[in-house]
Amino acid sequence: MSYENAWLNYRMRQDCRDKKYFSKVYAGDNCLYTQTAVRELEIAAREILDIKTERVGNCETAGIWLKLDQNSEAGEEGYHIREKDGRIIISSAGGRGLLYGSFALIRRLQLEQTLEGICIEQVPSNPYRMLNHWDNMDGSIERGYSGNSFFFQDEMVLVNERTRAYARLAASAGINASVINNVNVRGNATKLITDVYGEELRQMSEIFAQYGIRLFLSLNFAAPMELGNLDTADPLDDRVKAWWKEAMADIFGRIPNLGGFLVKADSEGRPGPFTYGRDHADGANTLAEAAAPHGGVIIWRCFVYNCQQDWRDRKTDRAKAGYENFMPLDGKFKENVILQIKNGPMDFQVREPLSPLLDGLQDTNQILEVQIAQEYTGQQRHICYLIPMFKEISDGSFRKNNWGMAAISNTGNDENWTGHDLAAANLYGFGRLSFDSELTAEEIAEEWAVCTFGKNEKVTKTVVKMLLMSWPAYEKYTSPLGIGWMVNPNHHYGPNVDGYEYDRWGTYHRADHLGIGVDRSSRGTGYARQYREPLASIYENILTCPEELLLFFHHVPYTYRLRSGKTLIQHIYDTHFEGAQDAAELAVLWDSLEGCISEKVFERVKKRLEHQKEHAGEWRDQINTYFFRKSMIPDEKGRHIYE
Ligand code: GCU
Repeated sequence: MSYENAWLNYRMRQDCRDKKYFSKVYAGDNCLYTQTAVRELEIAAREILDIKTERVGNCETAGIWLKLDQNSEAGEEGYHIREKDGRIIISSAGGRGLLYGSFALIRRLQLEQTLEGICIEQVPSNPYRMLNHWDNMDGSIERGYSGNSFFFQDEMVLVNERTRAYARLAASAGINASVINNVNVRGNATKLITDVYGEELRQMSEIFAQYGIRLFLSLNFAAPMELGNLDTADPLDDRVKAWWKEAMADIFGRIPNLGGFLVKADSEGRPGPFTYGRDHADGANTLAEAAAPHGGVIIWRCFVYNCQQDWRDRKTDRAKAGYENFMPLDGKFKENVILQIKNGPMDFQVREPLSPLLDGLQDTNQILEVQIAQEYTGQQRHICYLIPMFKEISDGSFRKNNWGMAAISNTGNDENWTGHDLAAANLYGFGRLSFDSELTAEEIAEEWAVCTFGKNEKVTKTVVKMLLMSWPAYEKYTSPLGIGWMVNPNHHYGPNVDGYEYDRWGTYHRADHLGIGVDRSSRGTGYARQYREPLASIYENILTCPEELLLFFHHVPYTYRLRSGKTLIQHIYDTHFEGAQDAAELAVLWDSLEGCISEKVFERVKKRLEHQKEHAGEWRDQINTYFFRKSMIPDEKGRHIYE
């Protein structure tokens, strides 16, 4: 399948004054990353400036100088770019910094910002900037909405030009690590750590390496049994430990650019240490010990909860599970273990509080996990620009033991990579935000729009407006005030208010004829108490609880007055009418760009927006009708609500 260049869709610029810099490049050293950087500068010069770049042998005559400088304060991945005496110097203590610096310079060209007098310094905000692909070896993608995998097909590993195109796109946005297979490791995927797929993985990792990306694999905790014929996977059993040591020595020996492993254990039916009466620290540490001699890390996911719950039971609370499982283990993990924690305590809903684990753990390395695959936020058929949400999340208190950010990727083998063209803003935006947490969601949207569609004020303004409207709109027409879910079971698309109400997954809204919401205060499940003060008290009290999370923390009567003076039921009606209207406006805004955007892209997006508009109407009607039927309270504004 062919593919497009997404935001690396370079456009020729006429009469650009910055041509002069690009005619001659000098790279002081010749490491892998510098070679890539020079190649990228050459491509940009050719495609944007229509010139051929000459590689020169010294800095004197060069217009761009890639300078490795051991003493650079920007570190190995950071960079300095400055113009001095008609020459641009990109310096860094490492080759990867030179690569990021080069991409930054090219981005400025794309944005049509002058390079004269440029002086910027950038140090990445996160050491790990990671994509997690939930790709299966048969080529399907769990929660994938952009076609099939470009890493796997028919139980084989794919290595081709698209591998390079992927690495290039990811690196240009600042990504430096990629887990290529699904966290649910089954079947042949278990064998990815053996030499069965060794050669392909080595080739892939070499391509990744050129772009500064570490290859990671998800592994199966039961591999010693499934591959090694042991009768146990008990992490404290000496045979199991020895098995892992050998397996790690083998794979790290074959794949030098391997970063380590991501593990989903004792979660949603996956094997883990609980079977043997061990805890997550025992499990993670055994793997970590085996990976340590090779510089490998073990990224252990905290998405652990009881998925066999009874809806009748009002004390067990899925939201509490992550904290209950991992907080007692704080400080017990080896140095090369990083816990990966979903942003919220549930599962990538349109609105959740920040997981209390992120702030709770004091002596444990953490990676924040978010999802750009829009499983619960419109599945890349609706626009939902998530960077404003990630901004709120990453501005939160998790920074202390921060090792990075990981996003469940939204890519697939669709021509435009992300199904919905506008969903690429989430991919780009995640990378940019993880690299530079100071950027605003609006700045990122603007960069992305210009790089993708070219510099055209009308297009940029409209696209940025659409992106920024989209998350609030989605929140308005779907489940209200932080309660979440209300989707069709299994595939999670479209409204179904009671879809998860009597199920085993711990995902309830508890609506009755008087009110809705889960009481997570001390009178209820006690979840609010997992936060450190002052948050615990803030969430505990209905009067101080942020209203966008009201129903996550409290069971609230429909007649309760919000700060706006509106009753809860009126708020539900109003937001649903408004949200659906916003979705309709998104379609109108896009229509105004006809003729300013390539017809192919215009039509692709138009089709999805028409669907979104319809579908938002379906959400509005199902939710409004549901609550009208429960409460029998009419809309104050007399709008039509189906009975
Ligand atoms: C969600 C998602 C699953 C996924 C899981 C995870 O529950 O629906 O498909 O496996 O998250 O994060 O592991």
